[in-house]
Amino acid sequence: MIKSKAWDWGIVKGESKEYWLEPAIESYYLIQRWLAQGKKEFLDLGCGLGRHTIQFAKAGFKTSGFDLSEESITKTKEYAIASNVEVTLKVGDMLDLPYDDKSFDCIYCRNVISHTDTNGMRKIVSELKRVLREGGECYLTLGSKQTWGFKQDWPIVDENTKIRVEDGPENGIPHFYADFDLIVELFKGFQIVKVFQVEDYILKKEPLSSFHYHVLIRKKQP
Ligand SMILES: C[S@@+](CC[C@H](N)C(=O)[O-])C[C@H]1O[C@@H](n2cnc3c(N)ncnc32)[C@H](O)[C@@H]1O
Repeated sequence: MIKSKAWDWGIVKGESKEYWLEPAIESYYLIQRWLAQGKKEFLDLGCGLGRHTIQFAKAGFKTSGFDLSEESITKTKEYAIASNVEVTLKVGDMLDLPYDDKSFDCIYCRNVISHTDTNGMRKIVSELKRVLREGGECYLTLGSKQTWGFKQDWPIVDENTKIRVEDGPENGIPHFYADFDLIVELFKGFQIVKVFQVEDYILKKEPLSSFHYHVLIRKKQP
């Protein structure tokens, strides 16, 4: 399994930082969905600057934020204090989550669990299953094999994984890319509720877009 590497949040500034502070579109849907289902304990896995940690805490969830980057957890803590919400924060690696079995009703991992290789992905999927309660849900995104990154001449780790090369916060970080068949195989131990592929256009630059799968899974009742 490839060694995990955190984002370098110290170099994220200006417009890019603003992007990572604004909640993603589906987060509003997830809040409504999970409140309606009576879910309470929420984990923001790979919380970054804390945009969803704070959003879900404000919406009334008992919220935990978790990230490999110490800077990410420091920034999320400052954001929580400024927002006057209580959250539980931990630094650690998603390959070995520091939570008891069945700790959470709902988990959000947006643009996080792709930061590993194929063996790492299988370990993360088993960790998600372990820490979710029966009937609990997880919404996650995965890089798609259709996206430009998978077509780059970057160092290859395995048939699904490359090491990103860039002048930015993701330099040297593994990226796992999926297709639909691989998603069905990876999450066969869950009920797959929804899978869709989104093309995100990057505005103000040359026409460039990236493709991600969005996946909603539910831990089956025994
Ligand atoms: C693209 S950012 C997304 C942040 C957040 N989910 C959001 O949507 O704003 C990816 C985050 O995953 C974290 N990360 C990468 N590998 C990780 C690992 N092995 N364990 C925990 N967090 C990890 C990075 O440090 C970074 O904060």
